Amino acid sequence: MSIQTADFDYVRTLLRERAAIVLEPGKEYLVEARLLPVARSFGCEGLGDLVRRLRFGGEAPLVTRVVEAMTTNETSWFRDLHPFDALATMVIPDTIRVRAGEKRLRMWCGAASSGQEPYTVLMVLAEKFPELAGWNIEFLATDISSEMVAKCNAGRYSQLEMNRGMPTPLLLKYFERDGLDWKVRDELRKRVTFRTMNLAAPWPSLGTLDVVFLRNVMIYFDVPTKRSILAGIRRVLRPGGWLFLGSAESTLGLDDGFERVTEGKAVVYRNRKD
Ligand SMILES: C[S@@+](CC[C@H](N)C(=O)[O-])C[C@H]1O[C@@H](n2cnc3c(N)ncnc32)[C@H](O)[C@@H]1O
Repeated sequence: MSIQTADFDYVRTLLRERAAIVLEPGKEYLVEARLLPVARSFGCEGLGDLVRRLRFGGEAPLVTRVVEAMTTNETSWFRDLHPFDALATMVIPDTIRVRAGEKRLRMWCGAASSGQEPYTVLMVLAEKFPELAGWNIEFLATDISSEMVAKCNAGRYSQLEMNRGMPTPLLLKYFERDGLDWKVRDELRKRVTFRTMNLAAPWPSLGTLDVVFLRNVMIYFDVPTKRSILAGIRRVLRPGGWLFLGSAESTLGLDDGFERVTEGKAVVYRNRKD
């Protein structure tokens, strides 16, 4: 069932207003594939009916479901590998030096999807930095999608999901069998707090952070949104604090408050001290 142009435009505007996500013309197939199941589950006769309900009424659960269904949640364990090397060789050692006095480390992952990224970070910390054992580590991981946040909290993954980047020794050490699935062991799961948060809406108070992960989400936003998010990150990141972006993302031409630092094959961004 193909979507009418006016209905497609309505969905594009809704997505931009609610999540800052830019959907290019030509992506009708994506809207059809992702919203038909939503239409069915809300008892709509088709996409036309779904958009009519959004226009006249726009019940909050339906709007939320539509926005969530249109997010792309692609992720994997140790995605792109090199950023996690740079985390271990440069970012955490630097942070340990800076925070040695108070023994406190604060991190935020702002587009956590189904949790592979924050859990990977925690495994790197546990594997490489036994000296952090007595530290107060606060790790907040957020995503706009409540469905993804529920999945993060459950910490349950299929074998297929595990096959995407999880080294066997870490699988056996940090996960346990749960039927046919794998479940993150409690000792790792309790080290991170998951919440919903829309990067394009006013942010809750995040305090002062040492490390921010915002990988593979800014690609979906327009330039003014990227600028305002980067400015927001500089406000919460301590001077000298670190920002990880996706491999197709950069602060270049958007915000010169960040210094681009190369470590091995990874690029990390540092909040300038001045
Ligand atoms: C492609 S995934 C990236 C996941 C992970 N960071 C990685 O690199 O593997 C993008 C995530 O951004 C989330 N997202 C999209 N728009 C958002 C917004 N406005 N605020 C917060 N999260 C958003 C989506 O729900 C999705 O889970």
